[in-house]
Amino acid sequence: MSSSQPFIQSSPLSVTARRRKSKFTFKHLVQLSNYSTTCALRVIAHVDLDAFYAQCEMVRLGVPEDQPLAVQQWQSLIAINYPARKFGLGRHITSMEAHKLCPELIMQHVATWREGDEKWAYHEDAFKHIATHKVSLDPYRMESRKIIATIKESLPAPPMQRVEKAGIDEVFLDLSAQVHSIMLGRYPELQEPPPYDDPTEYLPRPLTTVLDWNTDALVDLDASETEDDYLDWDDIAISIGSEIVRSVRARVREKLKYTCSGGVARNKMLAKLGSAHKKPNQQTVIRNRAVQHFLSGFKFTKIRNLGGKLGDDVVAMFNTDTVKDLLEQPLDQLKRMGDDTGSWLYWTIRGEDDSEVNPRTQIKSMLSAKSFRPAISTFEQGVRWIRIFVADIFSRCVEEGVLENKRRPKTINLHHRQGAQTRSKQSPIPQGKMFTEAILFDLAKNLLAQVVVDGRAWPCANLSLSVGGFEDGVANNMGIGGFLVRGEEAKALLASERHAFESHVEDKDSQPPEKRRKFDNGGIQKFFLPREISQEDSERDHTPFQRREDSDEPVNSEKDNDMSESSDPAPLSNISKPTICSDSPSTPKARHLDDDDIPPDIPPDIPPPSAQPLSPSHRISHFHQQSLNTYLCTRCSSNLPLAKKVEHEDWHFAKDLAKDLQAEEHGQTESARRTPVPQKSHSRGRGRLVGGGSSAVKGREKGQRRLAFGKG
Ligand code: CTP
Ligand code: CA
Ligand code: CA
Repeated sequence: MSSSQPFIQSSPLSVTARRRKSKFTFKHLVQLSNYSTTCALRVIAHVDLDAFYAQCEMVRLGVPEDQPLAVQQWQSLIAINYPARKFGLGRHITSMEAHKLCPELIMQHVATWREGDEKWAYHEDAFKHIATHKVSLDPYRMESRKIIATIKESLPAPPMQRVEKAGIDEVFLDLSAQVHSIMLGRYPELQEPPPYDDPTEYLPRPLTTVLDWNTDALVDLDASETEDDYLDWDDIAISIGSEIVRSVRARVREKLKYTCSGGVARNKMLAKLGSAHKKPNQQTVIRNRAVQHFLSGFKFTKIRNLGGKLGDDVVAMFNTDTVKDLLEQPLDQLKRMGDDTGSWLYWTIRGEDDSEVNPRTQIKSMLSAKSFRPAISTFEQGVRWIRIFVADIFSRCVEEGVLENKRRPKTINLHHRQGAQTRSKQSPIPQGKMFTEAILFDLAKNLLAQVVVDGRAWPCANLSLSVGGFEDGVANNMGIGGFLVRGEEAKALLASERHAFESHVEDKDSQPPEKRRKFDNGGIQKFFLPREISQEDSERDHTPFQRREDSDEPVNSEKDNDMSESSDPAPLSNISKPTICSDSPSTPKARHLDDDDIPPDIPPDIPPPSAQPLSPSHRISHFHQQSLNTYLCTRCSSNLPLAKKVEHEDWHFAKDLAKDLQAEEHGQTESARRTPVPQKSHSRGRGRLVGGGSSAVKGREKGQRRLAFGKG
């Protein structure tokens, strides 16, 4: 394959000599080696797993490759393997419809967290339990991690490797540096210095006349090009890229049994279109001379970033969805979409995209969510779900290396949806101590309490918990004894914390609600009971209440295809981001409202939910006539149905907590604020305020005082 053509140095070039020169310069070659995004020889690949979740299940269950299989989530199908697609099955048809179309179809339900469980599992009848189970994508995330690791292993070490995770089942590869190195090995003439040391000199043309594209799907050339034209270095570069992708795919197949499809081209946009062009288990090469031909056949709504709202807006403005028609629009017309968007669009449909492959594959946020059908309507139910979210998120944080102190999140967010209204509460995660599941649980629970305080918390249609702002190697992750804990030591510590956390939660939660109600409030208060762990631990490990601000952050902030992890920013601020699917097949778009926009159930200083303020005379007569079905709240003199008592007391409790926080933030002393002491009369004799004396307060770190209850 190597060329031995003598280097042609004549300059200026005669026509004959010109034909013997490449259209690329020495500078292009240098750019190729250093990943320049404007390099005309650039080689980018996109690799995407075929029917990913379905393949995960096939590999896990050892299902023969020609067996139709679909992955089920409740009554819908979310992934369909290629044998099943032959029967006309598509995503989001119901399992009943699928069974009719393909009776031999295996439908495997996704793994779920069952309420109260510590770990997700594959439950046989999960589809019946939408009300009490939550979907877990952990099995697919784990496979995804293995696949990406295998892809990286099959490439040379960085800096010769650039891999960007672009979703749960896809990566971009910038192969430029590797291709450069292979080219120099195969074509020694490229190692020569440029004539006159002038990097703008043209390269010699390659002598190669035919390339072996193996089994690649080659996109036809543009009308102005023919297969008989001379090959140039971009053809060679792309063919080397294609060889690399073939070997990467073969390695994934051989080691992990998965098939994937690839696209190879000069940029990310084209590579991504390429990988989807021929599926499954194929790769498509879009040579530079084929770009226009390739693109003009597309609807532009298939192009990266044009699949969502932006694409819809372009369709509406120009009354077409094809690249071909849009190519007729001059730049100034496209700029009606806005200057930046117009320019971006103009170049994108001409196959230009200089976005870089960003090797930062680190997760930036994690989300765990559940849509409730039917809606949930008590704090207790909310906390049970929060416990699952926390277990889900924490186990993923462990995978991210929180225990080894590699990375940890800085903020926690709770999103709450009621009807069309979404509210968010956010809190920082304290950085000066060991990051534990118990801390996360306490923070999350407190965020929910804040939502309750604001009123109108119930019925709740959707809750989601996320952590974000992951940072690398925080140095002050202190464990027991104030030492930095790492590796195995950290895991042992976690195990003991986990045990303490479990016994804490279990002791309080294990009884059925009815039974429990006989013994304690059964509402918000019990979630603030102290953990049953050593005094030393409880002193040190109380979760501080941090200053929180309501967040404007959208609920749907996740990444395309990876429905619960987010790792990279959208390239253009005005390009609509894909919406996440949470647990629900159809998550309505979040309406962004400030909390102030939402009329709380109760204005701050008048009686809380369900309470009807009565006139004084009315009140007296009611007081005397109180039937067994009502009760009078001694704190706010409201008369309420007895059935609302627990909820009402929760409300006071939460409200008091909020006041505590406010007071703390304003530097008020505990004792000055706490008259009269409200909780005592509402906690069935169990409640006791800790830190009620000023010395007790001083003995704690700022922000660490919290309510605790005696054993009664
Ligand atoms: N997925 C989903 N809901 C969506 C999009 C994707 O549940 N709206 C899941 C699918 O189950 C899928 C995985 O995310 O397996 C990756 O999605 P994608 O690559 O778009 O589809 P695949 O199922 O992998 O199919 P293909 O072979 O076409 O890539
Ligand atoms: Ca896929
Ligand atoms: Ca994908």
